[in-house]
Amino acid sequence: MEAPVDSRPPPTLGVFDSGVGGLTVLQALRARMPEVALHYVADAGHAPYGDRSSDYIRERSLRVAEHLRAAGARMVVVACNTATAHAVNAMRERWADWPVVGIEPGVKPAVAATRNGRIGVMATTATIASRRYEALVAAHAADVSLVSQPCPGLVTLIERGDLDTPELGDLIDRYCEPLKAAGVDTVLLGCTHYPLVQNRIQAALGEGVQLLNIEDAVARQAQRLWESLTTTDGVAAQAPTQRHTKGLAPLVLQSTGDPGPLQHLARVALGWQDAQATHIDV
Ligand code: DGL
Repeated sequence: MEAPVDSRPPPTLGVFDSGVGGLTVLQALRARMPEVALHYVADAGHAPYGDRSSDYIRERSLRVAEHLRAAGARMVVVACNTATAHAVNAMRERWADWPVVGIEPGVKPAVAATRNGRIGVMATTATIASRRYEALVAAHAADVSLVSQPCPGLVTLIERGDLDTPELGDLIDRYCEPLKAAGVDTVLLGCTHYPLVQNRIQAALGEGVQLLNIEDAVARQAQRLWESLTTTDGVAAQAPTQRHTKGLAPLVLQSTGDPGPLQHLARVALGWQDAQATHIDV
């Protein structure tokens, strides 16, 4: 006898960032959980968050998260260090029943990885100015020398979708200079946009400097939570083929700005050849 067909729509995992940066987290999520339907929103109409006030970042993050929730996201991954720093508490307060996974600069792994006790953090101005970041540094970096390098303008250039411009190279050089001068041997990419230009940052810093990012660690944490959730829900997280046709689960890409760069980078930088992105107003 055939097993009864489960006609409920598959649960969706919501993901958002101020723009294209969260694609780096999305890529890690897709690699770990290919059977999970993903709904991604780039708040590109309001990027960069990193130059905005805490209130603005919180308000936008709540709006975008509400959109994902209303569309049926079973949990949300905040694929943005800046939004995590300024909005994750407000999100958890507002939706106590809705799991929220954030991303924060991996100060602890960077401290563990340094050999000369000097680390650099590249992040947005708003992340570095946040209380969460201050607490992270106080908790984990008391015994190392840490240089926090804000990188205004970098997200704006990456948002254009062309990762090869000389202008982008010049800005990367400018922000890497103080880190080189400080003799750091480990640099942490504390913004999800930066891994998209990781090769250029590596070239600017030199091969002797190790670059760290924590997108995969966040995806691992999200996967653990997702599996416990969907098991509780009675949805067969471990048996995707019962719920979906073979292959990758659906991927929805939306942008509150121009969807062009999001679609372009999903195709070119991530290799998702048939990715489609659309505009939404949130
Ligand atoms: N990707 C965001 C982050 O991780 C960039 C924030 C911005 O828009 O400035 O912080």
